[in-house]
Amino acid sequence: MTLTGRRALSRRTFLGAGAAGAGALAVPLLVRAAQGEGGASGITLRAAPGRVRLVPEPYGETDAWCYNGGVPGPEIRLRQGERVRIVLENGLGEETTVHWHGLRVPHGMDGVPHLTQPPVPPGGRFVYEFEVPDAGTFWYHPHQRSFEQVGRGLYGPLIVEEHEPLRVDRDITWVLDDWRLTSSAGINGDFGHPHDLSHAGRIGNTVTINGRVPDSVPVRPGERIRLRLVNAANARIFGLDFGPLAPLVVAMDGQPVTPHAPDGGMVVLGPAMRSDLVLDVTGEPGSTVQVVDRFYRGQEYRLVDLVLDEARLREMPPDWPIALPANPLAEPDLVNARRHEVILNGGMMGGMVMAEMGGSMGGGGSPGMSGGGMMALMHEGGIWFINGRAAQGHVLEPMLSLGHGRSHVIAMTNATAWHHPMHLHGHSFRVITRNGVPTSHREWRDTVLMAPRETVEIALVADNPGDWMFHCHILEHQEAGMMGVIRVA
Ligand code: C2O
Ligand code: CU
Repeated sequence: MTLTGRRALSRRTFLGAGAAGAGALAVPLLVRAAQGEGGASGITLRAAPGRVRLVPEPYGETDAWCYNGGVPGPEIRLRQGERVRIVLENGLGEETTVHWHGLRVPHGMDGVPHLTQPPVPPGGRFVYEFEVPDAGTFWYHPHQRSFEQVGRGLYGPLIVEEHEPLRVDRDITWVLDDWRLTSSAGINGDFGHPHDLSHAGRIGNTVTINGRVPDSVPVRPGERIRLRLVNAANARIFGLDFGPLAPLVVAMDGQPVTPHAPDGGMVVLGPAMRSDLVLDVTGEPGSTVQVVDRFYRGQEYRLVDLVLDEARLREMPPDWPIALPANPLAEPDLVNARRHEVILNGGMMGGMVMAEMGGSMGGGGSPGMSGGGMMALMHEGGIWFINGRAAQGHVLEPMLSLGHGRSHVIAMTNATAWHHPMHLHGHSFRVITRNGVPTSHREWRDTVLMAPRETVEIALVADNPGDWMFHCHILEHQEAGMMGVIRVA
């Protein structure tokens, strides 16, 4: 993995640092302005450079790009069904937009430059206004040069509360990110480095929770926590192991799922993915539970310690219900669904995978990917391909057209040697099979992580008309071509 060799700050210094107070882990909650017309709540997000304390003393602060002066940006909290009005002000030196990741908003509010709106120039503003049909854990980020704008800190959580929220003692959001910092805690400016574009993406050397290198979080024995995890990293995949605690997954990408223990004992989150956990704190007062990220073999590290208070909140975990009510998503009709194929290829070692998988999986006449072919492709500006095409910009001929209001199955093949979290805008979809085997939870998602050589089938009702982005959420892969447009009409 690219972790090695790029570690300007040692893991020991950073990931084991002891100075970050637990209180520092809170995300500022957005204070809503007075109710606007039509009951719409008014919120302003200002994107601008700022200075934030990512890493503890003795390191200095870090120059970042912030929403409302912080990283992450403010936690926006809405009620299901609410109509919201959010003004974006651009205080950056370049164009930007905001995309409301996972929210099923109308096309014109989706924040994709040139495709759904003109990008907002420096000094400009744009008013987003939409209703939020689904309760759950979502997030927001720019869709303009995301690999750098998100990488410099532009992102924030957006929580839509259920009409009757789950009963818990505490509802906590952890926005995870990783950074490539220099030895003086500055952001390394090598965005779009060719190695990152063609391999695993920009993996950093410093991991933060809510914009701070975490140390410990106090918890109370017996307490029930709803933990909302958001992966805002450009490229890092997390696989969180809570040790002796037994969290249950109750939602994925904001959408409720039958509560279950995480598959393989690890909560896996590719970039842009979310998980809502119900975590009952069991264990002895005064003890410590390590949360360890085990996703990359040989690169395991302690993310944070949960420190159990001396005083018990209660003896036994509460027996409150933990299943969330379903969101109003249309159920795809698998019998009459239209089938579509999507093949991902490209990247380093792509030729080897193609050969293994039968050689002809190019789809749409994609160029050969063996050794020299790779270099040739990089000259054409694309490294990653969907159905043989590498995207440049957001305005593209649709790669698929889905009949509006109809059910569709999209069969996706990852013919590369790398993971890809594939994201569709404007819709949530059910993940129905992996490598031909029905999934156990048939989960609704907006981003599905595909392992190297894996095939995944997703199903949806195409009920939101427009031209929607479909792309890998490893932002370097997206930038290097792994993006397309799916038309719903
Ligand atoms: Cu989270 Cu197209 O993005
Ligand atoms: Cu990718």
